[in-house]
Amino acid sequence: MGSLLEVKDLATYFYTDEGIIKALDGVSFSIDEGEILGLVGETGCGKSVTATSIMGLIPSPPGRIVRGSILFNGRELLSLSERQMRSIRGREIAMIFQDPASSLNPVFRVGFQVAEAIWAHLKTPIREALLKAAELFGRVNIPDPLVAISRYPHQLSGGMKQRVMIAMALSLNPKLLIADEPTTALDVSIQAQILSLIKRLQRDYGSSVLLISHDLGVISTMAHRVAVMYSGLIVEEGRAEDLFQKPLHPYTQGLLAAIPRVDEDKSELAVIEGTIPDLTNPPAGCRFHPRCPWVMKICEAERPPLKAVEPKHKVACHAYAG
Ligand SMILES: Nc1ncnc2c1ncn2[C@@H]1O[C@H](COP(=O)(O)OP(=O)(O)OP(=O)(O)O)[C@@H](O)[C@H]1O
Ligand SMILES: [Mg+2]
Repeated sequence: MGSLLEVKDLATYFYTDEGIIKALDGVSFSIDEGEILGLVGETGCGKSVTATSIMGLIPSPPGRIVRGSILFNGRELLSLSERQMRSIRGREIAMIFQDPASSLNPVFRVGFQVAEAIWAHLKTPIREALLKAAELFGRVNIPDPLVAISRYPHQLSGGMKQRVMIAMALSLNPKLLIADEPTTALDVSIQAQILSLIKRLQRDYGSSVLLISHDLGVISTMAHRVAVMYSGLIVEEGRAEDLFQKPLHPYTQGLLAAIPRVDEDKSELAVIEGTIPDLTNPPAGCRFHPRCPWVMKICEAERPPLKAVEPKHKVACHAYAG
């Protein structure tokens, strides 16, 4: 299977009064057809900026994509016009967000909102689009779909609203679904249901998924492959089983050590020493070096490239050089 999405050396900056925030500064990864790629990292590392860069939704000003390439299905998204991008958004690449409430319009019935999205892209007559919306509500396990389509967002629970968003995302059968923290705002019991729904639909529809989460537990149950992001860069990438069994980067090792384990009698979480770097003035060389337990002289001077040190397992760390 070939790559559906290929992001290369992507750099997105925000030009603010406080300085230039280098939110992404050379991000590279790819997603194969039918694959779930998990993107994981601490808050502020650039996960959402990665998603909005792909969607062509970076607010400008202050933001700008200053470098790189985003190949989607063989097309360079960065050279498309806003109009061309609009026809890809929703139809070929769909996105679901952390907070489903903020993505739904409170004054319109949810069925109408899904139907309108279908109409806007496919010009399906609105009555037919409403029936299609009801059918999709059934697919995402919303009870009584024909009743639910006439509900307003405030009449639905958070989990139900997220199902509506997933139905809307799937209504156009997108090739790529970007899910940015899709379950973070939901109760734990609902989280698992939404995740298994995304997984089932991904299998049924054969879509690819970019699943963004700061929660390694979520990533480990869902992703085929994982990319670990630190301070605007991918520091490790590999198959989920390889990455979880044998994390290479000291940052990934720290993240994994920070997960509480049910099989261990350990009540305290490990934390990674140090603070997240300031993106207006990031550390020279490897951005992780001020927090790294393995730091060497070269780490302060040279940024380590992301390269394969084992089959299908890449890391950006000088400790693996030579
Ligand atoms: N519109 C904006 N203007 C200025 N800076 C921004 C803007 N959007 C994002 N940033 C900056 O880009 C950096 C990366 O933010 P991003 O939202 O991608 O983080 P994240 O990894 O998604 O974090 P979280 O886990 O909290 O969602 C942050 O330093 C943030 O302040
Ligand atoms: Mg985010």
